[in-house]
This record gives sequence, structure tokens and C-alpha cells, in this order.
Amino acid sequence: MSMNVLVVKYTPREEESRTKALLEYVIKLFPEDYIYQEVDLAYTLPELMDRRKIALYYRRNYDQQPLTEQEEAELSQMDSFADQLVQTDILIVACPLYNFGVPAPVKAWIDASFQRGKTFDVTESNGVVPLCDHLRVLSLYTAGIVFDEVHNTEGMNTIESLFEANFRWIGATDIRIIGIEGLDMVPPEEVVIRTKEAHRRITDICYKWFQQ
Ligand SMILES: Cc1cc2nc3c(=O)[nH]c(=O)nc-3n(C[C@H](O)[C@H](O)[C@H](O)COP(=O)(O)O)c2cc1C
Repeated sequence: MSMNVLVVKYTPREEESRTKALLEYVIKLFPEDYIYQEVDLAYTLPELMDRRKIALYYRRNYDQQPLTEQEEAELSQMDSFADQLVQTDILIVACPLYNFGVPAPVKAWIDASFQRGKTFDVTESNGVVPLCDHLRVLSLYTAGIVFDEVHNTEGMNTIESLFEANFRWIGATDIRIIGIEGLDMVPPEEVVIRTKEAHRRITDICYKWFQQ
């Protein structure tokens, strides 16, 4: 069965980017007959939620007030991100770790796409109702340092908990997060070992997914 795959990437170092190399490894494993869409956040920067935009969003998505055509147009980028996500079966997100979390454009993409009334709802009787329960997510990241007790950095990498919380919130049931840590720190031979391990885990996930 064909699947809609959405690739959301922020790999601004492009040919130098280790995260992009990891993404390319994944894409090679994916079936050719799937339908692919890509959002390159280093090219199309998501608009931030300024006062005007957040007011329009609350008026429309929380208070169910109609907006004018011109006001709708002001939300068009965030709506196109949300509509793409709702139609997605498999989401692949790839970015480096910046300042212990996701880079700002990736967070801005989440803020824009995870819209009440589109990807989740909140009702008086049921509380949060996730609307993307068909979604599978593969998140890829690379990081410069290693996060563990040896380096006194344990728990400082927030990328995994942020992805996990957000994708669970909208209903994704299968969320896989593969990171390669230490790329600016460990010796080259250790980079090779860590990269191979990430490839092995990715291959296992794809094998399982494509068997279903
Ligand atoms: C603005 C910025 C912030 C960064 N912050 C962190 C960080 O908090 N922790 C970390 O381990 N690496 C950090 N790094 C290093 C990158 O995560 C690392 O070099 C990564 O592999 C870069 O990915 P790329 O090769 O795909 O560009 C930072 C890099 C930049 C440019």
C-alpha cells in the first residue's frame, strides 16, 4: 500500500551536514512508490507567531470565529504546514541539536503545524483528542557532544523529550528517534562506530515498518 511521506528537514550546512547524510541514508531505504513531500526549513523559514498571527489563530481555532479572506491569507503558511501533516502517514524530521534542543525553525514548524482543530482537538468531555493517530514518526538528529553521566551532561539533551511529547500529543503511536551524539567530540573511528549503529537501528525500523 502506498504511503504519504513528509520529510521536514533543517540541515542548513547541506553538503557538510552529518544530519543530512543520515537523512539520505533513510531515504534510500524507503520504497520508491511511496508519495514524498519535502519541507526544507532552511529554505522556507516558518513565520513566527507574532501578536497579530496568534490573535487570528485563537479567534479562528479556539473561538470558532470566521476570518476574512485577507486574515485567512495571513495564516496560509501555517495552514499549509498543518494540512500537509494531517495527510501524512510517515513523517521524517531531521535536524541538528542546537543549544540543547531543536533549532528554532523546527520549533516554529511545530508551533505552526500543530493546530487545534486540525492535528488535535480539545473538548469539554474528552479533554485532548489527537487527530493524527495514523501517523508514524522517524526523527533524526546529530549532536556535537555526548550526553551522559561521564561528561556530566545527562538529561541536558531535550530534543528527544520534545519530539516524543509533541508527536504523542497529536496521536502518533509509533515514534522513533535516532540521534548520533558526540560528532564534534569523539575521535573519527568512534564517529564511524556511532554512525554504523544509527544505520543499523534505522534499517531495523524500516524493515519492521515495511513488513506491515
Ligand atoms: C547554533 C549551534 C548550537 C549548537 N548547540 C549544540 C548543543 O547544545 N549541544 C550539542 O551537542 N551540539 C550543539 N551544536 C553542534 C551540532 O549539534 C553538531 O555539530 C551537529 O552535528 C551539526 O549537524 P550538521 O552536521 O547536520 O550541521 C550546536 C551547533 C550550532 C551551530
